[in-house]
Amino acid sequence: MLTPDIAIIPEHVAIIMDGNGRWANKRGLARTMGHSKGVEAVKETVRAAGELGIRYLTLFAFSSENWNRPEAEVSDLLGLLRRFIRRDLAELHRENVRIKVIGERDKLRGDILPLLLEAEETTRNNTSLTLVIAFNYGSRDEIARATVRIAQKINAGLMDPSAITADTISDHLDTAGIPDPDLIIRTSGEERLSNFLLWQAAYSEFVFLPDYWPDFNRDLFIEALKIYASRDRRFGGLSARPAAVMG
Ligand code: FPP
Repeated sequence: MLTPDIAIIPEHVAIIMDGNGRWANKRGLARTMGHSKGVEAVKETVRAAGELGIRYLTLFAFSSENWNRPEAEVSDLLGLLRRFIRRDLAELHRENVRIKVIGERDKLRGDILPLLLEAEETTRNNTSLTLVIAFNYGSRDEIARATVRIAQKINAGLMDPSAITADTISDHLDTAGIPDPDLIIRTSGEERLSNFLLWQAAYSEFVFLPDYWPDFNRDLFIEALKIYASRDRRFGGLSARPAAVMG
């Protein structure tokens, strides 16, 4: 596989995989077909991320609001996640991929939580790509849960409220220990965050692609990475780039 010419590879890419339903509608297919094709795009994306040297890839697989979809669609999405873990875990493990799950776990019923925990446990010592699966994830919920944990420590006399900093918050989020995303990609032409990584996205670059998620592939990934590489990230400071490059 040819290595593309990309000046800066981000350490952490997060993706809002949107447009499965519209992809299917456009073809007169059931929404479920869009989700199934979406899993193929997930596999290609994970493979490409590893090959391109990305260290962390976060995928928004199921939001805490997705439970409001019709029961059949929810069960379909859960089935696809189940199958992805059951069928593809061995291969991901062989490829040295570490899986980490973020999102609210306590209220999950049935076999989903044990499966996700097994995937984390099996791959915990792997050292290539970290694949972060956002499942039953909502950013406001994550921040609220982090706040509860901090308050509990204060109540137990383990923490002084005046010592709380931005790092304290980061360290109590589900993403503790994972660097903030450098790049957030959203497919399908929608341009919003939809309760995804609100805290962590403070300095992220955004790339919005018009393509529906099932059509996402290595080439589109590379296109997004090239757009990212052309951006001038200043983190609230001044540009580190020479004036000539700024144009
Ligand atoms: C958005 O499309 C996509 C989702 C709600 C879920 C994404 C899930 C997958 C790609 C499959 C399972 C994931 C893994 C990691 C195996 P939409 O249904 O909102 O599309 P629409 O906006 O066009 O209706």
